[in-house]
This record gives sequence, structure tokens and C-alpha cells, in this order.
Amino acid sequence: MQTQPEFLTLRRHLEQIIVGQSRLLDRLMIALLTGGHILLESPPGLAKTTAVKALANGVHAHFQRIQFTPDLMPADITGSDIFNPKTSAFRFLEGPLFHEIILADEINRAPPKVQSALLEAMEERQVTISGQSHALPELFIVMATQNPLEQSGTYPLPEAQLDRFLLHVVLDYPDEKEELQILDRDRRSHFGEDRDDLDTRLSPATVLTARREVAEVHIEEAVKRYVVSIVNATRNLGKWLPDWQDAIRFGASPRATLAMVRAASAHAYLQGREYVIPDDIIDVAGDVLRHRIIPSFNAKSKRLGSDDLIKGIMDAIPVP
Ligand SMILES: Nc1ncnc2c1ncn2[C@@H]1O[C@H](COP(=O)(O)OP(=O)(O)OP(=O)(O)O)[C@@H](O)[C@H]1O
Ligand SMILES: [Mg+2]
Repeated sequence: MQTQPEFLTLRRHLEQIIVGQSRLLDRLMIALLTGGHILLESPPGLAKTTAVKALANGVHAHFQRIQFTPDLMPADITGSDIFNPKTSAFRFLEGPLFHEIILADEINRAPPKVQSALLEAMEERQVTISGQSHALPELFIVMATQNPLEQSGTYPLPEAQLDRFLLHVVLDYPDEKEELQILDRDRRSHFGEDRDDLDTRLSPATVLTARREVAEVHIEEAVKRYVVSIVNATRNLGKWLPDWQDAIRFGASPRATLAMVRAASAHAYLQGREYVIPDDIIDVAGDVLRHRIIPSFNAKSKRLGSDDLIKGIMDAIPVP
């Protein structure tokens, strides 16, 4: 846990830029600490882009923002083979994905082909062009943002591919007190009083060391069983909640089980603990499962969404 104090410094840096939104800040830290990709969703103007940029600024890493638009092509993000007339040979020209921290901004505004090129890179950490694979950087992590699906001009991400995201975070509007602070902070920054006072950026080596430390956070058998019960309940809801027997069309995959333990380990690490407790699981479960379960039409007609179903499951399963 040697590296943990440096991450607390980074967290304080984020708090100086973003008012409130503490779940969001926690989740960004967890993503960085696990190498997991994160999807942030909210209506426009809730500081998604600002928060990701602040995080990237706190790490000494190659950062790239990719604005997803309806006319984007897969090669625009992956790169492509370019013919060099001098040597009469093709040479791979790396696209913007070949960076360490990627902000995939407004990911649901790009057509499905581009989304799937991104999601493939996320899963395999490599890009394949003309049968040749090109490895992405070791630190590679995608922080994607999207507006809610009802907004016009959006292409919903394919459900099966959402599974590639470790966490799916839905942001809430700030309360009135926080909104006043946002206003004050903005005015101060216009007068140049709010300089970026981050003097120590995290090095990529520190991030990689921290990821190893997080992977070593201990989890005991009873807590593992708890995770498995939660994920299993998304596939056998009737066992725990007979009234909701057919409320979930598709449950979560084993990837969710792994994701829950990884995210909970990072959560424990941020609390300075070398072992996972059930509270870590409870804290991350919603963001791990939200995008991995598909409510049935029946559930939707009763206005039951993923969050309601997850809450039902968490309430039903006994905490060890
Ligand atoms: N909690 C907050 N703390 C500090 N600033 C905030 C907060 N919420 C919003 N802002 C300010 O509001 C503005 C909009 O933020 P930003 O562009 O990051 O939103 P966004 O969520 O990315 O929006 P969009 O979905 O339209 O891309 C920025 O100037 C940002 O500083
Ligand atoms: Mg934005």
C-alpha cells in the first residue's frame, strides 16, 4: 500500500476542481487503480469532461480526447496502413487510440462501427489492421462519456459490448449549495486565483505499482461467496424475489463477478485497507451491474429499471 498516499493527493486535487460528485471522483480513482474502463452518463453540463481532464492532468501520462461524432470512421480512431511511395511499402500510422488515458467523449454520438472498434481495443488492448496486431500502451484506459439515451442524435451502445466497461456511473445534479460553490469557483478561476496547484503528478510507474498492490488486496471466502450470490441472483432472480421471477431478460456475466472484486479491492485500497469487506462490495455493486443486466419488457412495463432490480437484489441477499 506504499503508493496509496499519492492517490489520496490526486483525489484532493480533483476535489479542488470538482464540487461534490464524490461518487464520480471515487469511480475515476477506482478505474485508474484497476485499469478498468469507465462509462460516465448524465445530462449535459454535469462536469463529466472536466473531471476526466482533471484526472488525466493529475497523472503524468499521454492523454488524448476523442470527440465522437456521427461522421467518425473506425480508422479515425485506430489508425491505418499508409502507403509509402519511396519504399513501396505500407506502414502503420497509429491513430489517437494509441495513448494512455483516452477520453471518449460523447461515445454514443458515433455510429456502431466506430463504437465496436473502440470496444474491441478496450477488451483486447490491441488494434488489428490488415491482420497485423498493434499493442496499446500498458496503462491504456478508456473514460467514456454519454448523454442519456433518450437524447436525439444518439446511437445506443450495443448491450453485449457494454460489458467491457468495469463501471457505469450515472451522475446526479448538484444540490443548491453545491451549485453556488460551482459558481464561486468559476468566477475565481476567471480572475486567475485558482491556479492549478498540483505539483506532484503521479508517474505511470506509480500507477502500475498501485495496480499490482490492488490486485493483492485480500478477499476472504465469505466475501467471495457474497459476490457470487449477487451476480448469480441477476440470472435467477426468482430464487430471491419470486414476484420478480421474469424481471431480468439477461443477467450479468462472470465478467461482472471479476469486475466487482476488482472494483471493491480498489475501493478498499483507497480506504487504506488491505482486505475487502462486504461494505466495499455494497458500495460498488450498483455501478458494476447497472449496464450488465437487461430488464425484461414485463419489468419495464412496471417501470422497474436496472437500478430498482439491483436494489432489490442487494436488499434480499444476506450480508456476510
Ligand atoms: N460539480 C461541478 N464542479 C465544478 N464545476 C462544475 C460542476 N458541474 C458543472 N461544472 C462546470 O460546468 C461546466 C460544464 O462541465 P462539462 O463540460 O465538464 O460537462 P459535461 O458533463 O462534460 O457536459 P456534456 O455532457 O455537455 O459534455 C464546466 O464549466 C464545469 O466546470
Ligand atoms: Mg462533455
